[in-house]
Amino acid sequence: MKIITQAPELKEFTKNINQSIGFVPTMGALHEGHISLIKRAKRENEIVIVSIFLNPTQFLKGEDLDKYPKKDEADKKICELAGVDVLFLPHVNDIYGSDEASILAPKVRGYILEGATRPGHFNGVLTVVMKLLNIVAPTNAYFGKKDAQQLNLITLMVKQFFMSVNIVAVDTVRESDGLALSSRNIYLNKNERKEALKISASLYMAGKMVSKNILDSKEIIKEMRATLEPLEIFYVEILSRDFEKLLHVEIGNTIILVEAKVGTTRLLDNIWL
Ligand code: PAF
Repeated sequence: MKIITQAPELKEFTKNINQSIGFVPTMGALHEGHISLIKRAKRENEIVIVSIFLNPTQFLKGEDLDKYPKKDEADKKICELAGVDVLFLPHVNDIYGSDEASILAPKVRGYILEGATRPGHFNGVLTVVMKLLNIVAPTNAYFGKKDAQQLNLITLMVKQFFMSVNIVAVDTVRESDGLALSSRNIYLNKNERKEALKISASLYMAGKMVSKNILDSKEIIKEMRATLEPLEIFYVEILSRDFEKLLHVEIGNTIILVEAKVGTTRLLDNIWL
């Protein structure tokens, strides 16, 4: 596995290879969810590039960037074992200058759900993803469905800026008891880990209601909120794949999304129906 830390060096590398490139951008603390993105990228491309970059601009003031889990050596090993060809480890000064152009998230879609409680978060996400996609120039870039709003906004940016990369959405990986994998799960103590299962349980319950042909969004959300009790709920929403509110679940066009706080940890999850 080749390790590259400088953007110009990576640009030079990708310019000179005439092969399909699959790209998996990450912030490190890699887990099975990231490995599934890498495996998919390996199946569908000749070369796989992973970036690990803890992007400061997607953390708001007061959000503790320094507390984000860092596992540099373990991450390198995971990438090596997963067959990654190039690991890109840029330094913050190589990605950002002092007087910066940036991408602004759409005023509606970027400021609902996660964007409502973390205003500006998606400006940082879109800006760094634009930069990384420009450096790597991949054929395909892989993002998890768990971060559905991020995935939706990146797909929209790629379309609206006429970029030529193909964005691939990859299914969420779960523990055997249903908990969606997330770098934040390590913050949960034993009791919180148990409480966190209410999130996937609420989504499974919604799926069950839909399978019984109960499609009314209000009715489903009410039951989901009851299942999530007593967690602090940031949102429970039933949206179309275009992130428009749906009064009724439309099979093939629906995402049900939840974000709740367990202890001090915000966890999000969703199902696509
Ligand atoms: O999902 C993430 O890990 C990050 O938001 C991303 C896409 C790597 C951008 O920093």
